[in-house]
Amino acid sequence: MDSLPTSIVVLTGAGISAESGIETFRASDGLWANHPVEEVATPEGFAANPQIVYQFYNQRRRQLLSPEIRPNAAHSALAKFEHEFEGDFLLVTQNVDNLHERAGSRKLVHMHGELLKMRCLNSRLVYDIAEDIDFDTECKCCRSPGNLRPHIVWFGEMPFHMNQINRALESCDLFIAIGTSGNVYPASGFYQTAKIRRAYTVELNLDRTGSSFDQHVYGPATEVVPAFLDSILQRQGQRAHR
Ligand code: OAD
Repeated sequence: MDSLPTSIVVLTGAGISAESGIETFRASDGLWANHPVEEVATPEGFAANPQIVYQFYNQRRRQLLSPEIRPNAAHSALAKFEHEFEGDFLLVTQNVDNLHERAGSRKLVHMHGELLKMRCLNSRLVYDIAEDIDFDTECKCCRSPGNLRPHIVWFGEMPFHMNQINRALESCDLFIAIGTSGNVYPASGFYQTAKIRRAYTVELNLDRTGSSFDQHVYGPATEVVPAFLDSILQRQGQRAHR
């Protein structure tokens, strides 16, 4: 892309957090290789055996809150970019960790939910949660056990913030996908929505994914993301000095 973009949407997936120590989903040693998806990531699995689902998310929450899990250079580059880029910007993450916000990102939506939140099944009110929960944990609004579920979008459920995301995709002139395999709809179709409106589309990923973006840059996120975003900020700086 030669011209300076005016409106950018960035989509991130598990690959951006891999170098922070959080497993991806579809690697040979990834989360879905070690846990049956139907058991821990579907409404039916939760209805059949909530305790297994609570345990799975308790473990992941504990890992996220451990001191060795920290934002990496790719998260930080996106936060810096959001503050310095003069056009419109939206960061859409499929990740349920909080590493983007810990790095300083604010123009951010979590389309697949958040690990540090729970939701009441009755009132749909959402609560921050840092500790383990189980079937006996009382909901803050109902004061009864068994009413809390992870605030995570499971297979078969509608992702969050789709109106805002579609509006941004339809008006962006640059779409960047970072560290996502493109296996899960609707996120896997975002680059096509952006392309229909003639946006330039770029994939920054460790490996080829099979989706046909206008540009592919392969390498670890901590290297390719800062370099790619800096090149846009440099062009912005050059234009200002003309
Ligand atoms: P995946 O595990 O499917 O894909 C991770 C991608 O990141 C792969 O293409 C890897 O090649 C790439 N990758 C790994 N390490 C990387 C690194 N250091 N730098 C750059 N790229 C790297 O994860 P997602 O695409 O995020 O949904 O998965 C999408 C959704 O599937 C998740 O949000 C989750 C899952 O089921 C729900 O749970 C609803």
